[in-house]
Amino acid sequence: MTEDPGLDILFLQTVDSTNRYAVEHFDELSDGTLVWAEEQTAGRGRLGRIWISPKGENLYVSWVVRQLKEPYFLAAAAASLAALETLREAAGGICPLYLKWPNDIYCGQEKIAGILSECVVRETICGMVVGMGINVNSSAETLKRTGIRAASLHTVTGRFFSLKKMIPQLAKQVRSCYIKYLSDPDGLFLRWKEENRLIGRELDFVLPDGRVIRSRFLDIAEDGGAVILDGGKRRVFSCGDIRIVKGSLTDKNTNGK
Ligand code: BTN
Repeated sequence: MTEDPGLDILFLQTVDSTNRYAVEHFDELSDGTLVWAEEQTAGRGRLGRIWISPKGENLYVSWVVRQLKEPYFLAAAAASLAALETLREAAGGICPLYLKWPNDIYCGQEKIAGILSECVVRETICGMVVGMGINVNSSAETLKRTGIRAASLHTVTGRFFSLKKMIPQLAKQVRSCYIKYLSDPDGLFLRWKEENRLIGRELDFVLPDGRVIRSRFLDIAEDGGAVILDGGKRRVFSCGDIRIVKGSLTDKNTNGK
């Protein structure tokens, strides 16, 4: 284990999933630990998907949250803001990076990072593990295997990045977002909402059962759900995915093409 000021980083060469590992070892891991793996053989994505995790190419990290506070969705929001800032520092303004509800990080129309939070339950919920998958050095060829439009810092900037140098930057951002989550959850919520640049756009909302609702993304509710119009009625969409509709991104904030 390597020590970062105020934050433990546990490095694993190979693991099936850092989230699975952190949930299983939750009781032994101190609050705020980042479990970082060079490779995942069964990386987990949202909604039962897999997260392709080739050796040494990208960041696969799980953050141990022992001081879990309601509303729980804010822990994942904190992680998405930390990953967003880490990517911004590295990309140096080359591409407009933003959050796509709930916690994907996008560069233009391509996904560059994703967040997966999992509750740790003993008798009740006692904490959370928040996984961050950040595409750093994967090639366009590798990213094609994701089956979605995906980017990495490398495909965006043409450069390669040292994961060893990025980890302390991510750790610093996670720590600062953790402090904000604990001390100023309302401020964190507002910042998270501000970074969700798709609010106001016409988008496809894909429900877990596969039904698709094309609607304007009106707002984010206090419980973290996306507020949309469904058959003329306001509805809070709390689980699912958003698909960007052709022509819905047309400004410098999202770099729509
Ligand atoms: C998504 O589907 O957008 C979420 C992807 C989350 C991937 C990360 S990689 C580190 C951590 N361990 C996992 O198995 N998944 C998360």
